[in-house]
Amino acid sequence: MSGGEQVEELQGRRVLVYVSGSIAAVKSGEVVTLLRRRGAETRVAMTESATRFITPLALQSLSGHAVVTDLFRDTRGRRPGGRPGAGGDEPESGHGMEHLNLSGWAELQLAAGASAGLIARLALGLADDAVTATALACRAPLVIAPAMETAMWEHAATVEHVETLRGRGAVLVGPVSGRLASGREAMGRMADPAEIVRIAAELLGGLGQLPSGLLGTPDAGGR
Ligand SMILES: Cc1cc2nc3c(=O)[nH]c(=O)nc-3n(C[C@H](O)[C@H](O)[C@H](O)COP(=O)(O)O)c2cc1C
Repeated sequence: MSGGEQVEELQGRRVLVYVSGSIAAVKSGEVVTLLRRRGAETRVAMTESATRFITPLALQSLSGHAVVTDLFRDTRGRRPGGRPGAGGDEPESGHGMEHLNLSGWAELQLAAGASAGLIARLALGLADDAVTATALACRAPLVIAPAMETAMWEHAATVEHVETLRGRGAVLVGPVSGRLASGREAMGRMADPAEIVRIAAELLGGLGQLPSGLLGTPDAGGR
């Protein structure tokens, strides 16, 4: 595919990428880069755990925008009503709730390398961090690419949470079999970033039926 075709495909489309505390967080930068290569606008929200795996600065650099990591600080590093901190590049919203700016902005939500914890909190409708509060306030379609050890993926709790999310319309991409953080070769590895972005692009563009090959189900772990 030529670069020109890619740019036309997602030109100006607004994708909100969620990063959580899985080892696959290190690949979230590649997801952002691939989305931008296709012309998409990207913003990133991260859980606190995710910042242990990849820095907000790296994702700011790749997405081209300040990253939201803290419900109680805006993207300029200020607490609502507090004193100015580090500079940022986002317009002032006035209400001090950056998660609402993001949730209203997004055309697509993409949790790339979703941890078991994030999947559980999304299913339960919690809103206790920058990612889940944004997601609960957001009505854009949600794509989830899980990444975790096989036992976590196959756990009845995760199976139920995934079923709940799919029942609400979330699209699961992967996981796939491959090398896990533990070093084992097994189910639970995040799907390839290019495949995740391809499916996100199909959803956004309404370019046809979703491919069935990598669409995850709770049973994919081979219970
Ligand atoms: C080195 C390391 C790797 C981890 N990898 C994963 C992972 O791939 N998937 C996962 O669900 N949890 C993983 N965890 C556990 C999560 O980081 C932990 O459950 C965390 O609380 C998730 O937070 P979050 O869901 O708010 O991002 C890992 C933990 C460590 C220390």
